[in-house]
Amino acid sequence: MREARSLENVRLGTYYVVQLPEPDDFGFWRERARALVQCEVPPDRIAWVEPGGNGDLFSHGERRAPVPPPDARAVRANKRFMALAKNAALHSDPDRFALLYRLLWRIQSNPRMMEDKADADVRRIEELDKAVRRDSHKMHAFVRFRLVEPEEGDDDAQEHYVAWFEPEHHILRANAGFFMRRFSNMHWSILTPQGSLHWDTETMREGPPAQRGDAPGGDPMEELWRSYYASIFNPARLKIGAMLKEMPRKYWKNMPEAALIPELVAGAQKRESAMVEAGTLEFEERPETLEAIDKAIHACRKCPIGELDNSAVMGEGPRDADLMIVGEQPGDQEDLAGRPFVGPAGQLLDVHLEKVGIDRRAAYVTNTVKHFKYVQRGKRRLHQSPGAKEIDTCRWWIESERAIVQPKLILAMGASAARGMLGKTVSISKVRGEPIPLEDGSELWVTAHPSYLLRLDGPAREEQARLFDADLAAVKERLEELAR
Ligand code: URA
Repeated sequence: MREARSLENVRLGTYYVVQLPEPDDFGFWRERARALVQCEVPPDRIAWVEPGGNGDLFSHGERRAPVPPPDARAVRANKRFMALAKNAALHSDPDRFALLYRLLWRIQSNPRMMEDKADADVRRIEELDKAVRRDSHKMHAFVRFRLVEPEEGDDDAQEHYVAWFEPEHHILRANAGFFMRRFSNMHWSILTPQGSLHWDTETMREGPPAQRGDAPGGDPMEELWRSYYASIFNPARLKIGAMLKEMPRKYWKNMPEAALIPELVAGAQKRESAMVEAGTLEFEERPETLEAIDKAIHACRKCPIGELDNSAVMGEGPRDADLMIVGEQPGDQEDLAGRPFVGPAGQLLDVHLEKVGIDRRAAYVTNTVKHFKYVQRGKRRLHQSPGAKEIDTCRWWIESERAIVQPKLILAMGASAARGMLGKTVSISKVRGEPIPLEDGSELWVTAHPSYLLRLDGPAREEQARLFDADLAAVKERLEELAR
């Protein structure tokens, strides 16, 4: 009955009003958009109204979601659109949800339209995505926690840190995970004019919007921030215009170290000349293509491994793979072949991937450390594990690969790969089998390295092979879920 009425509404040219429960509720938009596309409701017959928006203007509109007919066609949405849409939905532009729907509607008849760089809608969604990523980046960089003094006489009070931030877009909730992971052991609150987040080392709570005056003004931590900033300040990278773009003056008032800026700028040229003379001048621009990374890792000598008689090995696989498989470092055979996972560990990996039904050709396969670390014993080159410092230095490259490929799921094999992803050492047995959310919205899954299996035999090998297969099967299942 309800279905018949829906289709009748569509036929009669009903105007639909979709009231979003929250300004950042992409999931709600996606569900409604799917039903509307399936009921063939064109974009100009829908008003997308966010909280606080003027829904009353559309009092004649139909507010119930239309119910698609049972034989409705599946809705097409490619990965690029979904990735951009998820971010663009957080923009403060009131027309964003209408734009997303228009694009989704058009993709149904032109699945390749996202590739049309000249299309005004495609250009606009890219702009929104960029602005939101920029706002999140600023939030990560410029949120400064200040210690709140406990009430007098309250000796049991936990140390509580509070930060004030003014995002331009609806990014607060989307970035909660970043701060939760980075400051997991602290009690903290982030206050913004859109709402607040409160973390007590175990649970995250959302609170109402706040005002600047609700956050404390300054404390002894600030001196620490100031000296830290002075020590990491790299005068060689100082471009005043770029700095203002990156760190607009609007954020300065919340950042204790900003008090140092005029002084550091004045001394920058002198320090830069000194760095040139000392040979410590370094420029780091993140490469924007996989080809550029490939070229750069071959020239990389940031750690001693690159000085050995070896050649960097680049990751391989589709540029838009959903799955990224990460190992430790190339072995002897990978170094000679210039490709990851082609030696014994790679062959064992292939066997297990095939067993659980993961197509290696659809994955992007790479390593945390790009060069083969070894010691020479006679004619043989014996594998040496990279140290924590070497892994951390090399993270720059895997992060650059991740930024380009944007996998939904990363499988890190072994402790070095896990460190490369997380920046800290974890115990495989403690973290395997469960997703670890990453800052960019992707998921990390950790398992053992196949060369660990190669070093075992008998029942121990069988047991580890079973666990390895179980991890791979869980990854496969999750990938299928994410693709839905
Ligand atoms: N082991 C790794 O971690 N990576 C390779 O590419 C080969 C062996």
